[in-house]
Amino acid sequence: MTTTSVPAASSANDTTAVHAGREDLTALGLHVPLIDLATTYPMPTIEAGGTAYDTIAAGERPDHESTLVYQRLWNPGVDRFERAVAGLEGAESAVAFASGMAALTAVLLASVAAGRPHVVAVRPIYGGSDHLLATGLLGTEVTWATEDTVAAAVRPDTGLVLVETPANPSLDLVDIAAIVAQAGDVPVAVDNTFATPVLQQPVVHGATLVLHSATKFMGGHGDVMGGVVAADHEWTARLRGIRALTGAVLHPLAAYELHRGLQTMPVRVRAQQASAGVVAAWLAERPEVSRVHYAGLPGGDPRGLVGTQMAGPGALVAFRLTGGYAAASAFVERLDLVTHAVSLGGVDSLIQHPASLTHRLVDADARPDADLLRLSVGLESVDDVIADLGKAFANLP
Ligand SMILES: Cc1ncc(COP(=O)(O)O)c(C=O)c1O
Repeated sequence: MTTTSVPAASSANDTTAVHAGREDLTALGLHVPLIDLATTYPMPTIEAGGTAYDTIAAGERPDHESTLVYQRLWNPGVDRFERAVAGLEGAESAVAFASGMAALTAVLLASVAAGRPHVVAVRPIYGGSDHLLATGLLGTEVTWATEDTVAAAVRPDTGLVLVETPANPSLDLVDIAAIVAQAGDVPVAVDNTFATPVLQQPVVHGATLVLHSATKFMGGHGDVMGGVVAADHEWTARLRGIRALTGAVLHPLAAYELHRGLQTMPVRVRAQQASAGVVAAWLAERPEVSRVHYAGLPGGDPRGLVGTQMAGPGALVAFRLTGGYAAASAFVERLDLVTHAVSLGGVDSLIQHPASLTHRLVDADARPDADLLRLSVGLESVDDVIADLGKAFANLP
């Protein structure tokens, strides 16, 4: 497949965001899902319990009338969130985890269990994911690739190709269809955390697995942690089995919050993206800034993926300070409205220094440069965000 045959950028449907995973509520006489906190469920008979266990272990939907067995195996609210994410990503199914790292862990364990422990990963990716692969903690072996060297890196025992687009923290866009073509039979996993299905649906471009730190735009308010993988039924059944055994399940309260977050995600992402575009253009004019990384700026998207693969450049902006680390350090300390904190995708603007925090554990030769800051633009008035940034620029080292 070449990039010219890639479908136009597709976006999750706003109606799906509001209603998915809630289709049966009216018939149940409900307006919002009930939160089921049960860790265990009564079993009418020994046989019914065993049958339900087998059903869930095979990755299939249990019969609610019989028994749901145990929260680590199944929870109705988690199931609702999963159905909603699958709908938004245009995937057959989804499996939710306690965090984004738990989601990646399950995907890597699935590759190892299948006897294909070699992973090809296109740097940069989130520092935690990078470090997990670099250490080989889960029995994987990584080959780091660029967007153009994936095919050369694939081996007979390669079980996964992993990419992030936009990538953390450089915000580079990766051509998903081109990676899929290079990967051949090897499944391609795309971390879609930064784009969200509002701006990009990797399955449409041939990805097998779509990963999210749901902690970010899905929750959207900085108060809930979770992860999710969208894929076909075969993959999600495998991941459900791993989740049941390794125990990194999403808590029902977190599932409720994440499911609610999805309803406003399209509106939030588009509004945050609009502000990010204004902030990026403003930063590009500042003498204290040597470079702005944002696909919406002239020259920021050399492959023209915005409009083909992505519906928009997103709500993250990275920028480099001419004064290097000293300037970056002083800059974040002077901010009042924008919070100096890790994470992203929430309603409030956050800024962080990747080399010191999110990518601290990355090999020195692949670590982001010390002059780089990453800004997640929130829902504040963009004038107020710019005023705060402008104040921090005054008399920088
Ligand atoms: C792109 C990306 N993927 C995965 C993760 C890990 O997610 P979590 O923090 O929910 O475990 C992060 C966290 O920052 C991230 O930025």
